[in-house]
Amino acid sequence: MGSREWGGAEARSYYRNNQQSTVNSQQSTMKALILSGGKGTRLRPLTYTGAKQLVPVANKPILWYGIEEVVSAGITDIGIVISPETGGEVQAKTGSGERFGANITYILQDFPAGLAHAVQVARPFLENSPFVMYLGDNLIQQGDLSYFLKQFIQQQQDALILLRPVANPSAFGVAKVDEIGRVLQLIEKPKIPPSNLALVGVYFFSPVIHDAIACIQPSARGELEITDAIQCLIDHQKQVEACQLEGWWLDTGKKDDLLEANRLILDSYLTTSVAGEVDAQTQVIGRVQIGSMSKVINCTIRGPVIIGSNCHLENCFIGPYSSIADNATLIDTDLEHSVVLDGAKIVGIHQRIIDSVIGQRAQLTVAPRRPKALRFLIGDDCQIELV
Ligand code: G1P
Repeated sequence: MGSREWGGAEARSYYRNNQQSTVNSQQSTMKALILSGGKGTRLRPLTYTGAKQLVPVANKPILWYGIEEVVSAGITDIGIVISPETGGEVQAKTGSGERFGANITYILQDFPAGLAHAVQVARPFLENSPFVMYLGDNLIQQGDLSYFLKQFIQQQQDALILLRPVANPSAFGVAKVDEIGRVLQLIEKPKIPPSNLALVGVYFFSPVIHDAIACIQPSARGELEITDAIQCLIDHQKQVEACQLEGWWLDTGKKDDLLEANRLILDSYLTTSVAGEVDAQTQVIGRVQIGSMSKVINCTIRGPVIIGSNCHLENCFIGPYSSIADNATLIDTDLEHSVVLDGAKIVGIHQRIIDSVIGQRAQLTVAPRRPKALRFLIGDDCQIELV
């Protein structure tokens, strides 16, 4: 580890400038850095054609939940770190921030060299502001960010990290804490985890973090890890606080996490609204949203279910925790606890489809000709389970 001077001029001036300020005025100087790069390998094949952060949960890109959470905590100066591969799409879809009441600056990270590298790249945007860093594929319960932001500002911490017990700590950054919850050590993806407390992808930093990042070396996976930079703050006796997140948290990096996120969002926030046409034979039970120009004919829809606009559903059972994006066609189909993306077509499948994610414009139909057989055109990394 390098021997640079700690808590340098920048950090000191941040505290000097803020000593007399109120929580509110500090809040307005806070910025947010949302990371929306990365390859999304665990969500292939969906991520061959798009950014993982734009995969919809309850028909809304995952990334937008993070933006909304940040804005509702009172932070409107937002930087989004993008990659060359998917940055254009993220930017085109998300825009300048107007729809969120925010001002969004896009920051290109040329190559995926780690979370701490993303902070380095974003330095001209961050300047010497304290900031919240939010991983764009993470979802936390509404209101939690606001709660922890207040604590971070009031206690003038150098870093506030959130921890959550998980079943598979080796897949995350993991904290070793003492009996009163103080963080002793942070280790990225440890083979033998010292606890089951994972680092949630939401962090609060004072500008001192930039000094720490300047001191770290790339990890075994060749990345500049934010976990190592926070460890560096701890080693230099900086004020690093850890809080356990009580609300839910999901890292939507994999299919099952995506389905779980979809379930939680539908369960927690979906309200009923029917804009499309629903015929008299259709039964709509529970909380269901149906978008404009959609037609629902002779179906049973048991909520919570969200159906986008311009969809055609006929002779279907759509069971709880399903999200169907715009322009989808479902005929003679039973589907439950699944996510169907834009323009997908499912026709005549006589077995119930559950726990599934059906990609954009994918088609699941019944063999129209003899011999009766299964015929596939399956893209790379697809997963198909047949009975
Ligand atoms: C990153 C962090 C890890 C954290 C996780 C949360 O991992 O490096 O410490 O626990 O996000 O989602 P990654 O998703 O890049 O593997």
